[in-house]
Amino acid sequence: MARALIIDTDPSVDDAVAALVALASPEDLEVLALTTVAGNVPVALTTKNALKILALAGRTDIAVHPGATGPLNGALRSAEYVNGATGMDGFDLPEPARAGKGYAPDAIVDTIMARPAHSVTMVCIAPMTNLALALRKAPGVAGRLREIVIMGGARSEAGNITPCAEFNIFVDPEAAQMVFTCGAPITLIPLDCTHQALTSAGRLGRLRALGTPVAEALYHLLVFNKRFHERRCGTDGAPLHDATTIAYLLRPELFSGRHVNVAVECASGLTRGMTVIDWWSVTGKAANAQVLTGIHADAYFDLVLERLARLA
Ligand code: BDR
Ligand code: CA
Repeated sequence: MARALIIDTDPSVDDAVAALVALASPEDLEVLALTTVAGNVPVALTTKNALKILALAGRTDIAVHPGATGPLNGALRSAEYVNGATGMDGFDLPEPARAGKGYAPDAIVDTIMARPAHSVTMVCIAPMTNLALALRKAPGVAGRLREIVIMGGARSEAGNITPCAEFNIFVDPEAAQMVFTCGAPITLIPLDCTHQALTSAGRLGRLRALGTPVAEALYHLLVFNKRFHERRCGTDGAPLHDATTIAYLLRPELFSGRHVNVAVECASGLTRGMTVIDWWSVTGKAANAQVLTGIHADAYFDLVLERLARLA
């Protein structure tokens, strides 16, 4: 039976690829809903982008639930400098013909409580405010989840928004800490892993060669997206961060890592949002997450392209 997912997202193109690969894998994954949050851009825009992505895939049957307009504490720190003012600059997808409905934290609670225990997986590819609000409203949700798969954080790769912090965790560290301490099985895919998986010219060429409207749209969005990273890091391509979560669910053998303790720095101004990953078990604290730091990058892109080729 296909594994049921809620994808909590702030699209951006790597979120879009994650959702599209999941939608292209119905034999393995059932996407119950997309829940959106303020992150890359404000939530009105991430919601619009989520609706556009589903329309692109012809899946207007899947609900989009808009969620938190900002982190639990303080103001939103968004990232228009990476993906443009819309969050998905580089290709104009049609304006969505429908709106988001409901409120993401409520939808997360209602869906998880209505489905059989240990059947729903949360895929968190954005600041985790929505899941934190759901846990605050209904702490019992944690014990009913099958798994939480998170793209976020960094072990030894250092941060991408501050020297110590990765964007998704930095935007809402308190939410992340609530999630890491909730007791559900967690898999974390940090920058150490995603920085090995770059949208090189060769890989983008293979994407465009698929020749479908989906591939053409993603090609242009990814070309826009890679410019920032290439300028900053001098690489050929940018990390395709968020689709690693879906690839992990489809082909866990492409990844390697350890079960360790993860805590989030919520206090220090200097290191706020840092994921403190106890790789060598020096604290003696119980492991609360599987942290993946290794990826077979070529096989990851083969999988992504094979699944995207299924979409028209
Ligand atoms: C994360 O930040 C977002 O911009 C990406 O979509 C990804 O979820 C990477 O740090
Ligand atoms: Ca994201």
